[in-house]
Amino acid sequence: MSPIKLNMNEIPYLPPQRVIEAAQKGLSNLNRYADPEDLELLRKLIADYSKVPIEHVVVSAGSNLLLKEIIHMFSKGRSVIITNPSFFPAIQCVKQYATKLTRIQLVPPGFNLNLDFIINELNESSLVIIDNPDNPTGKILLDKGVVKTIIENKNVLLVVDEAYFEFSGITCADMVKRYPNLAVVRTLDKSFGLAGARVGYLLAGKIFLDAFSTFYASLPQSSLYAAIEALKDHRYVKKNIELTIKERERVSKELEEIGFQVYPSSTNFLLIRTGIPDIGSELKDRDVLILDLSTQWLQGFVRVSIGTPKENDIFLSSIREVLKV
Ligand SMILES: Cc1ncc(COP(=O)(O)O)c(C=O)c1O
Repeated sequence: MSPIKLNMNEIPYLPPQRVIEAAQKGLSNLNRYADPEDLELLRKLIADYSKVPIEHVVVSAGSNLLLKEIIHMFSKGRSVIITNPSFFPAIQCVKQYATKLTRIQLVPPGFNLNLDFIINELNESSLVIIDNPDNPTGKILLDKGVVKTIIENKNVLLVVDEAYFEFSGITCADMVKRYPNLAVVRTLDKSFGLAGARVGYLLAGKIFLDAFSTFYASLPQSSLYAAIEALKDHRYVKKNIELTIKERERVSKELEEIGFQVYPSSTNFLLIRTGIPDIGSELKDRDVLILDLSTQWLQGFVRVSIGTPKENDIFLSSIREVLKV
């Protein structure tokens, strides 16, 4: 039996058959690069979906790559400001490239963003990176007012990582046209159920667009065709979200009944304070994978993605087995 994967914030549902067939069609041309016209079509579909003009759209093989590119391009000569915790690979990349790094601590139980602290830091050239909602807390950190307050500082570049936008419904994508110093990073890997395809995109203000003008990230044809087919009719995404949110609330309630502290989430995962140091390995022994945050962040905290109802039941009963309750 393969383990139940609740450790990588994936959607547990396959995309519709027509999307899988499109990917298979791409595989049958394995000797070919993707057609630039198909890449343009994908950009157009992303632009329509995001309600942003096509000139502002940059496509990439996963949004992680976009974040890395941005950090490479803009860390030099700037102070880099990132929250802690935040998407861990971005933190690692920032640690590698930033000459000056400021980490804004999100402190339990509220995980509130200290805006005054950020504003105080903005008197020099800065690159600010914020997940909205945040991974792993699941919390919404920004609204448009806060985004505006940050980007009205002309020497600041702001990157908002909206990997979980479809779950939160909150976005500042429409602001990239007006603000050259704003970029929004998104992905089809999560809510569209396309993690195996790796399709990310940037909705970029002018400064970012100029920097990305020589960036050419072609996609494998299978990923490209799958993404095009998914975006042509994305009603299934709504269903993924509804099912996930319903399950998220059920799992959260049951975990609270067990006695864990569960934090409100606007994503497809939950941050849980269990206080049990080896809960991750106890669950792994039972073929359930979750993310233990003790090395990345804090002891006693884990992050668990929402699976299918059956997977969530197995997760919950495994927890009860570990606790003997
Ligand atoms: C906040 C955040 N940003 C970016 C990513 C990267 O997503 P991908 O590279 O699959 O597009 C993730 C993945 O977990 C994430 O949680």
